Amino acid sequence: MSRTSTPRRYLMCRPTHFEVTYEINPWMNSQVATDTALAVRQWETLRETYLAWGHTVELIEPAPGLPDMVYAANGATVVDGLVYSARFRHPERQPEGPLYQKWFADAGFVTQTAAEVNEGEGDMLVMGDVILAGTGFRTDPAAHRELAAFTGREVVTLELVNPRFYHLDTALAVLDEDPAHPMIAYHPDAFSPASQAELARRYPDAIRVSAEDAAHLGLNAVSDGRRVVVAPQATGFAEQLRAAGFEPHPVDTSELLKGGGGAKCCTLEVRA
Ligand code: ARG
Repeated sequence: MSRTSTPRRYLMCRPTHFEVTYEINPWMNSQVATDTALAVRQWETLRETYLAWGHTVELIEPAPGLPDMVYAANGATVVDGLVYSARFRHPERQPEGPLYQKWFADAGFVTQTAAEVNEGEGDMLVMGDVILAGTGFRTDPAAHRELAAFTGREVVTLELVNPRFYHLDTALAVLDEDPAHPMIAYHPDAFSPASQAELARRYPDAIRVSAEDAAHLGLNAVSDGRRVVVAPQATGFAEQLRAAGFEPHPVDTSELLKGGGGAKCCTLEVRA
């Protein structure tokens, strides 16, 4: 199987103010020290990787007091140039929604202020014609309906059941959106039985990722259609990617994992 890279446009937020001062997912421990300079270096490596591949990276100004703002994927959902704002579940992150929405409005995008709780592309993953949408921990299913009405896309609700995989992008990765050879990867145990059945029906050839690789947030991977940024510890998944025609590229985001996120969390694709 031959896979094709396509040029991407990403929005990122430098982790200038990164630390773990509150705990809103099982990965976060405010007693464990964070090394902000190391987080910045790892993030710079990720950004430079995208630039070396010819992708465009835009930046939003990090705000003091919002340590999780580095996880740009949560900032909004962007489909066909339409921006559906994030509305965070936890008060600690709520100010991020308007900041990201303003960035898009200033850049000339049509934005809609969400009425329903949703955490952007942490839970909403564009996969070809449909949007795969997580719920169970953060995003309300009512937001799936709101997003469907706003974009006119089919939104497929998937229920997450393990608190370590609290956002869809910690349990499922979109690898190839080409309708001729679509491909996703996921960790089945992160989903309810009904959602596992739905994924198996829609994507019978999907890569099923082991508990061990998923536990390193291996599924928090970013694909440009062929090249895939993946956590270096997820070695089994890297092998599965190669076998399916992808090129895995390990990028270490261990410091950002202390907040419960990896490469994909730090990357919001701007689909104009
Ligand atoms: N500390 C953040 C939170 O719990 C991490 C967000 C990770 N982002 C993601 N796209 N999964 O909200």
